[in-house]
Amino acid sequence: MNNQKILLGITGGIAAYKTPELVRRLKERGADVQVVLTRSAREFVTETTLQAVSGRPVRANLWDKEAEAAMGHIELARWADLVLIAPATAEIMARLASGSAPDLLTTLCLATEAPIAIAPAMNHVMWSNPAVQENREKLTNRGIRILGPAVGDQACGETGPGRMLEPDDIVKAVCAPVAVQNAEQAPLAGKTVMITAGPTREAIDPVRFISNRSSGKMGYALADAASKAGAKVILITGPVGIPAPDGIDALNVENAKEMYAAVHSNIDNVDIFIGAAAVADYHAVNINAEKIKKSDDKMSIELARNPDILSSVARLQDRPFTAGFAAETENLRDYAIGKLEAKNLDMIIANLVGRNRGFDSDDNTVEVFWRDGEQSFPTTKKSVLAKDLVALIARRYREGQAAETENTKTELPAIMVRD
Ligand SMILES: Cc1cc2nc3c(=O)[nH]c(=O)nc-3n(C[C@H](O)[C@H](O)[C@H](O)COP(=O)(O)O)c2cc1C
Repeated sequence: MNNQKILLGITGGIAAYKTPELVRRLKERGADVQVVLTRSAREFVTETTLQAVSGRPVRANLWDKEAEAAMGHIELARWADLVLIAPATAEIMARLASGSAPDLLTTLCLATEAPIAIAPAMNHVMWSNPAVQENREKLTNRGIRILGPAVGDQACGETGPGRMLEPDDIVKAVCAPVAVQNAEQAPLAGKTVMITAGPTREAIDPVRFISNRSSGKMGYALADAASKAGAKVILITGPVGIPAPDGIDALNVENAKEMYAAVHSNIDNVDIFIGAAAVADYHAVNINAEKIKKSDDKMSIELARNPDILSSVARLQDRPFTAGFAAETENLRDYAIGKLEAKNLDMIIANLVGRNRGFDSDDNTVEVFWRDGEQSFPTTKKSVLAKDLVALIARRYREGQAAETENTKTELPAIMVRD
């Protein structure tokens, strides 16, 4: 970090007490650090301490007549090679997301051309709040790096995601080579992800079909998130009423057999498969050539099983990382884990569906299971959830790849001995 000019913005979170240590760590790495405090931050940490550790006068007030005689806020905005805000409160995230500039820190964030990174820190319920998550998404989409937060014990006595990363970890993240930072921003760069979405329609005559309430919103949100994470996305979709995400060409299919064929014709070189479609389990054995007429009081339709797309992919010899969805109305955990094992999946994303839940809603709440772990995701917008799920899938995929490489290495000597 030799002579890197870091403008450290400190906001009013309890983790501000760790910032003198952060300044010292940055300076040990050779950075030049200029501190800017918000009014609330001054309740948690003193200007005197930060001035002493940074070796520079601390700025805390936009209306500082002396500093602003030469437009000090613009000078600071131009001076910075990086603007780092740690801790970042829910409040500063909202101000940055809305583009408002009522104080020195937010004003110079608008005026700077330097990259901005923030290390959020707040109570875990605050962090999960949809407003905060939407702001996080907006900031990420604008290229602001979000460092953390970590999961763990919190000042309020509770446990969960929302702890500020430790000073050492923040320094490591901001010092990481560009390639590593890009990998963090685009964890699926160079990978191909196939996603199925929406319902399928199984015709019973030329005008009627059997289907389900899936809207495709979750699958489309996943396609968008995977694309933003750098992946090439193949989206195979049943009939839905929403447009394909920007930059993604969807392959449109009608029924389960067509979806099965589209999946298997394009599966070569797919690294990750996410089966988010609500594929009909059955199709009509005979599709009437003409519209079925009302006649008897009762009628029955003979149904036959559709191919199971998810398990057919999971059983391929050279199979991609395979994640499926389980939409259940009861016993979520048991059904989901049963499906994970029975279908030989790498991951299952389970959600309760029913009236106003899951299908056709803008929000979702899911439990994710894999062989040796699980994670709950609180109710949030599907677009926000999709991003978290894609990050988790990318992490599990990379861990699987790393484990495979390790196994190959340890197997090698045995092969050599046999030879
Ligand atoms: C004791 C105390 C601790 C707080 N800790 C946090 C925190 O960790 N994270 C957070 O987002 N807000 C926290 N707040 C609330 C913020 O200080 C408040 O939203 C403030 O307006 C933030 O302003 P700023 O972002 O300009 O610094 C805390 C408030 C108090 C009184």
